[in-house]
Parts: sequence; structure tokens; C-alpha cells
Amino acid sequence: MSVDIRSQAEAPEAAPRAITLTVNGKRYSARAEPRKTLADFLREDLGLTGTRVGCEHGSCGACTVLLNGAAVRSCLMLAVQADGQELMTIEGLADGNQLHPIQQAFWEEHGLQCGYCTAGIIMSLYEMLRRNPKPSDEEIYDTLGGHLCRCTGYQDILKSAKLAIKLIGG
Ligand code: FES
Ligand code: FES
Repeated sequence: MSVDIRSQAEAPEAAPRAITLTVNGKRYSARAEPRKTLADFLREDLGLTGTRVGCEHGSCGACTVLLNGAAVRSCLMLAVQADGQELMTIEGLADGNQLHPIQQAFWEEHGLQCGYCTAGIIMSLYEMLRRNPKPSDEEIYDTLGGHLCRCTGYQDILKSAKLAIKLIGG
């Protein structure tokens, strides 16, 4: 069977779709290209550049955000799949100028170097601590184990996570 590659290459782009979603408590209506990732949509269309894009295939965790309260890798989702959903990004964590305790802990324990991985790690810790404010070491390792830090500052990240648990009162 022959396949007409030329006609595939010339296939028109699908038209952008209207989507409505809530991000950090604010409702957005926008048009999203069907193939645009949620990570790119947050950064490019909504200007929420705190979410970082690293590997773009689900390995590094830099792009982690919360979808209806659950941590997801926004590079693995399409923006159109978030239609009607509720999202939280790193920008939604601080209360005005008041850092969230997890952010405060990373500040105090120097839990970052270049900071590229930090937003994703903090969002995963936030989700874990909402589920369980008193996690075991194994649970902390399990959560942090889903993230890669190219600066390799894992010891300080771990110290930051433990201080965050104290600050939150776990
Ligand atoms: S950029 Fe999404 S997991 Fe690496
Ligand atoms: S602090 Fe640089 S990648 Fe983690």
C-alpha cells in the first residue's frame, strides 16, 4: 500500500480551539493550538513563566504543576486537555510578598543553585504535604526522586524539604 507523504506534509494545521480554565484562582479564556503543550501554553499564552521546560518528555519534573490538586508534568499534556480544569502553578503559592513556607525553606536552606528545577520540586512537595503533612523519609525521597537537578544540589534540596515540613507544622 502506498502512502501519499506529500499530502500528509501539506495537511493544514488544525484550527486553534477555545478553552477556558482556572489558573491560580483566576479564570482565563483563550485559544489554544491543538498540539500546544500545557507547559508552553502557560508560559507563552498566559505569561506564567515560573513553570520551566526541561526535557519535554516527562523525565525531569521541571514543568510540574497541579491539575485539580494533583501534580502533573505539563510537558506531557496538551493545553486543550486542561479545558474546564483547575490549575495551580508556582506563581499561585506565595501570598503577596509573603513566601509560602516551602519557598521560605528553600530560601533559608539554599535549596537551589540555578533554580531551573526549583518550581517543579516545590509544586511536588506542596502536593505531597497537602496529602500528608507528616511524610516519612521514604515518601520525601519518593517525591524528590521524580525530579532531576542538573546542578545536583540534592542534599540542600532535602534539607529544604525537611525544614518546610517543620515550618508547616508537620
Ligand atoms: S520538562 Fe516536563 S518532565 Fe521535563
Ligand atoms: S538548581 Fe539548577 S537544575 Fe536544580
